Amino acid sequence: MNREEMPLIIRTRAELREKTREIRREGRVVGFVPTMGALHRGHMELVEVARATTDFVVVSVFVNPTQFGPTEDLDQYPRTLEADVEACRKASVDVVYSPSAEEMYPNGFSTEVSVPDLAAGLCGKFRPVHFGGVATVVTKLFNQVGPCQAFFGRKDFQQLKLIQRMVRDLDMEVEVVGVPTVREEDGLALSSRNAYLA
Ligand code: PAF
Repeated sequence: MNREEMPLIIRTRAELREKTREIRREGRVVGFVPTMGALHRGHMELVEVARATTDFVVVSVFVNPTQFGPTEDLDQYPRTLEADVEACRKASVDVVYSPSAEEMYPNGFSTEVSVPDLAAGLCGKFRPVHFGGVATVVTKLFNQVGPCQAFFGRKDFQQLKLIQRMVRDLDMEVEVVGVPTVREEDGLALSSRNAYLA
């Protein structure tokens, strides 16, 4: 894609499916970078790796309500879609997929995916609903994008391991790629939540 072109912005599951099917029909490999937006250099590294190793890059931007506990920062979580689309344009991303919460979780939605073995300890001890929400939304995103290579940061190591296990256990047609952590000069791992730090 020409670097001046905007990525295609897709809001619905149906449109995304149609697009990624078309790409696969042409024999091209879809690279998928799932995010909650507020994109930083860590995310852009995932995009870079996806660009270098696949043919068509989809970045999802969706702040997933089900992975936040009742006292967590869902309302404060940074939402910067315009800047995210611009960052994706500069990085030659092909599609930005940004569904609404209603599109992702239509009325009556009640299924949950869980990986209890890997969700119980470490971060899961303090965030009891978090990994169920992550496993469920990532399953939905994988089903919406279809067979692909998906890129996750090693920064969220428990999340990476849980998703790898889920893909293996549920026979998903997704190759999960773990990408090394990007850090500030002082060693702090880049994270959208660093915006909260003084
Ligand atoms: O790592 C994240 O940003 C999120 O947990 C993910 C994988 C996009 C699911 O909402």
